Amino acid sequence: MADEESARTPPLGSGLSAVLDSVLEQARPTDGGEVAGYIPELADEDPEQLGIALASVRGAVHEAGDSDAEFTIQSVSKPFVFALALEQSGLAAITRHVGLEPSGEPFNAISLEERTGRPLNPMINAGAIVCSSLIRGDDAAAKSGVIEAGLSAFAGRTLDVDEAVLASEAATGDRNRALAHLARAAGTLASTAAVATDAYFRQCSVNVTARDLAVMAATLAAGGVNPVTRERVVSEDVARWTTAVMTSCGMYDASGEWLVRVGLPAKSGVGGGIAALQPEQFGIGTFSPRLDARGNSVRGIAMLEELSERHGLHML
Ligand code: DON
Repeated sequence: MADEESARTPPLGSGLSAVLDSVLEQARPTDGGEVAGYIPELADEDPEQLGIALASVRGAVHEAGDSDAEFTIQSVSKPFVFALALEQSGLAAITRHVGLEPSGEPFNAISLEERTGRPLNPMINAGAIVCSSLIRGDDAAAKSGVIEAGLSAFAGRTLDVDEAVLASEAATGDRNRALAHLARAAGTLASTAAVATDAYFRQCSVNVTARDLAVMAATLAAGGVNPVTRERVVSEDVARWTTAVMTSCGMYDASGEWLVRVGLPAKSGVGGGIAALQPEQFGIGTFSPRLDARGNSVRGIAMLEELSERHGLHML
């Protein structure tokens, strides 16, 4: 019993960098998946990059592999922008515009709840675009300023935008524009469609590293306080609500299986990043650009599965 208990203790100790190295090397030969091709700029990523970082709620950061390589945050921005919207307006106001239910559909599904006109949750594109529209600011530039400052506070450093990815995103973003127009027609978008998608495209194009994602996730794990900078970014309630939605919806139509297999709230992005966390313990960021059919990083999943299995990190 005692052994079983200690096997489930999170490995927040001195051997942690070695643990990350070993998990990373074990995942390295995993093949399969492809770099996102639907945005031309993303297709140019080196598919073999591989990195992982873990930040504890006490502010220690451990890293392995390409943990400092920059890539665009893409959909990993969604929980953090949802959190910023919640912090600004509260749960009641935000849930008038976006729901909290798993959709069981792909990230870019054309879907709004019939009765309310709300996207089902803030992790699918429709819901994320609505969240971007809810961020204060009269135009896209003002909203983007708030979003970039907020994402930077979560990461604990000033993040910038990959302008080439942004241009690519905007040039190929008609499906997202369609989602924004649908939400506008349904009365749930809080700005014009163009303002919402401009802000959304820009938030997706913010550069991060696996280390940044670890610190961002650790900020949620620590109840809204960045454990490295000690800045309070969002309230404890907001951190909990955001983590809850990551748990139910973060891996899109793979969320149920993810919860059984890995058991950590997480969010993926087509740039190859995944942010995962164990509340009150740590945040993890992974980076590997090859994606499965659902848009989730193949080797990011492999590393998180292994880490969870080997060290009993499943939260249940
Ligand atoms: O909305 C899009 O198409 C992208 N900019 C972001 C999508 C994304 O990362 C989906 N996640 N796996």
